[in-house]
Order: sequence, then C-alpha cells, then structure tokens
Amino acid sequence: MSKITTARLRAMKQAGQKIAMITAYDATFAALFEQAGVHSILIGDSLGMVLQGEASTLKVSVDDIAYHTRCVANGSKKALIVADMPFMSYSTPEQACASAATLMRAGAHMVKLEGGDWLADTVTQLTRQGVPVCGHLGLTPQSVHVFGGFKLQGRETEQAEQIKRHAKALEAAGMQLLVLECVPSKLAADISRELSIPVIGIGAGPDTDGQVLVMQDALGLTSGYVPKFTKNFLAESGNVRAAIETYVAEVAEGRFPGPEHSFN
Ligand code: KIV
Ligand code: NA
Repeated sequence: MSKITTARLRAMKQAGQKIAMITAYDATFAALFEQAGVHSILIGDSLGMVLQGEASTLKVSVDDIAYHTRCVANGSKKALIVADMPFMSYSTPEQACASAATLMRAGAHMVKLEGGDWLADTVTQLTRQGVPVCGHLGLTPQSVHVFGGFKLQGRETEQAEQIKRHAKALEAAGMQLLVLECVPSKLAADISRELSIPVIGIGAGPDTDGQVLVMQDALGLTSGYVPKFTKNFLAESGNVRAAIETYVAEVAEGRFPGPEHSFN
C-alpha cells in the first residue's frame, strides 16, 4: 500500500470504501496497526487518560503530543498521521499555528482540533500555511466540564442542526477530515452525506465514511467503565495484528459498529 494522503481518503469516500483509523502512541503499535491495514493513526489527547491516568484530557501538553507523534512517526511508513491539538493550545489562530508547527515538525501530517464555527478562521490560517486540519464535533472531551460529563450530543433537533451547521462552516473554511463523537446515528449519516470531506465516527453509528477507536478499547486493555461504542477485537482474534485486521475488515464490510455500539 502506498502512502495514505488526505486526497486518498477523499477518494475512498467517493468510492464508498470505509476508512479505518485508530489511536497509537508509540512506534511498536503504529507499525503493527498499519501492517494490519489501518489507513490513519491518531495521536489522541486520550493519552492523558490511557497513558497518564488522568480523569480527562485537559492536562495534556503540546510537548506530550509531540513526543508521542515522533514515536508513532518513527514506526510508521504509510498511514496518515493525525495529531491532536491539546486543550487551550489553539485559542487564537496565532497560537494554533505555533502549536501545529511543533506537531508537524514532530511528524504529524494533519492536526485535529475540537470545536465549531468559531474555529473557522483558525482552520483557514492553518490550511493556508500548510497544515491540513481534522475537525472534531459532537462529544468534544476537552469541553467535558461544560457538558457536565461524557454524554451523547445532538439528541435534540436544535442541537443536531447546530452540529450540522458547524460541520459545514468548518468544511467551507478548509477542514479536510471530521471526527464525529457520540452523536445519534442518523445525525452522523446526514452529516456524512452532506459533506464532501470524509467523516470518521466514534459512537456515531455505521453510516459514516470511517471509524476511529482508542487502541486500548479495541484491544480490551480496559478496567472499569467501557464505553458502549467500543469493541474488544482481541478477544476473538488471539493476537494484536489479527485483532486490528478484524477491526479494519469489520469497518470495511459495515459490520462494525453494530446497533449495540450505536445511539439511535
Ligand atoms: O483523543 C482521542 O483519542 C480522540 C479519538 C477518540 C477520536 O480524539
Ligand atoms: Na482527542
């Protein structure tokens, strides 16, 4: 497989081929995951929770993401590497450019930021200066204290329409990929249909252009609370590579996520 680019992901959407994305934070897993067929690797600020043991993503720094991006980039040859912009690292377009520069120099091909149309100018500035942007709407974990918990978003019609408007505004501003987290399946299906860029879901039902999972969830490396939208692919596969091959195949065939992993 040749290098995966944003153009390639868009062509996959047009061809109806599903995109498989997963988080990774080091070279070992990055290499295994892309050998298993994932198209994109996300250095998520979920690392604050799964690696650092924090209760939220808020303490993660640009340097934390840069360190893990370098580790992933060193293990990766072809996947599209997306690095999360941490909490309060993109409050202004200027700050966003400085943060993104650090992450791109660490090996990212694209940065991801959480939020709506108030980021339009930031998305345009980053894109103009050579930084492709992935948006993140729905349940945006950096706003957990505004939401009052990790909850489904976009259940009411008005809120759903608002998420849709934000998605369209950011696409118009230059956003090239969108993650939709924890929204009703129908809303995710509508947004995926109405945008021409690929939409990657997590807890967003089967009718998006692709899926993303936190690697610890996909491998059952969890203790305590396990979100409804995740699946342990290691349980039925026996080794890590086979587990992620199964994840990629089930996404491609539309078998994951099933109704039991989705919100209706
Ligand atoms: O930080 C992360 O891992 C993420 C994914 C859950 C989309 O943002
Ligand atoms: Na994140």
